[in-house]
Amino acid sequence: MGVYAVTGAASGMGRAAADTLRAAGHTVLGVDLRDTDVAADLATPAGRRNAAEAIREAGADRLDGAVLAAGLGPVRGREREIVEVNYFAVTELLQAWRPALAAGGGGRAVVVSSNSATTTPLVPRRMVRALLAGDGAKAVRALRFHGPARAVMSYAGSKLAVSHWARREAVRPEWVGSGVRLNALAPGAVLTPLLEQQLADPSSARAVASFPVPAGGFGDPAQLADWIVFLLSDAADFMVGSVVFVDGGTDAYLRSEAW
Ligand code: NAI
Repeated sequence: MGVYAVTGAASGMGRAAADTLRAAGHTVLGVDLRDTDVAADLATPAGRRNAAEAIREAGADRLDGAVLAAGLGPVRGREREIVEVNYFAVTELLQAWRPALAAGGGGRAVVVSSNSATTTPLVPRRMVRALLAGDGAKAVRALRFHGPARAVMSYAGSKLAVSHWARREAVRPEWVGSGVRLNALAPGAVLTPLLEQQLADPSSARAVASFPVPAGGFGDPAQLADWIVFLLSDAADFMVGSVVFVDGGTDAYLRSEAW
């Protein structure tokens, strides 16, 4: 049985993935603000360092897998926090855990990105470039939007950057060359507390409810958890830097002419 680190383990898809892994007999070390094994605020560099260290100590320097699911939705006024959690808490924790993932010769990492990365038009490229360069303050300065669009762009930009980062890193020798598989999942609208919060907010409810989902309805976190567990399995051994859309057809619908 394996040892897995899961961020965002207290809610939604992270919690569903942790439950599925535990039910299969694995050891899960959860990280979240509260209600799990390691309490840490991943919006701050100190919180991320503490979380990385706590998992390293608890995981005895060897991890079979890591799931990076902690994230914030497009919440107005929290643009900086969005990029800190959705981008830096993924990239910094994975960099810290990479040696532990490589230690067993075949660790797996799954980044929970979003189809917002590809379905949101006009995401400032300067913002994405600033994130990839490690500059969160500059990334937020590049958001030349006001009102609800500002948080939407912060969210989509953080996800675009994290998908790009995952693809870029996945093929580097220190990842694939040491047997570690790094892939990303791009869910669409999945009914978790994050989406419920958007549906309850009058400034975003209509846009969320009218977003096209060809399959109809919202995704189920337990199904997304099954995809995460699949990406952690041996069956995904030939997947490197893949971004897997599980979104009821939204990305295909909105980008059907992009090829
Ligand atoms: P959720 O809100 O149910 O779970 C997110 C978890 O992240 C929560 O437990 C929360 O406490 C944790 N978190 C947030 N800020 C944190 C911080 N500063 N420090 C530590 N933990 C923190 O949301 P959900 O939907 O399960 O989201 C999981 C991931 O999936 C997120 O990255 C989200 O962006 C992504 N996603 C969600 C979609 C949806 O429709 N629900 C669609 C596409 C992507």
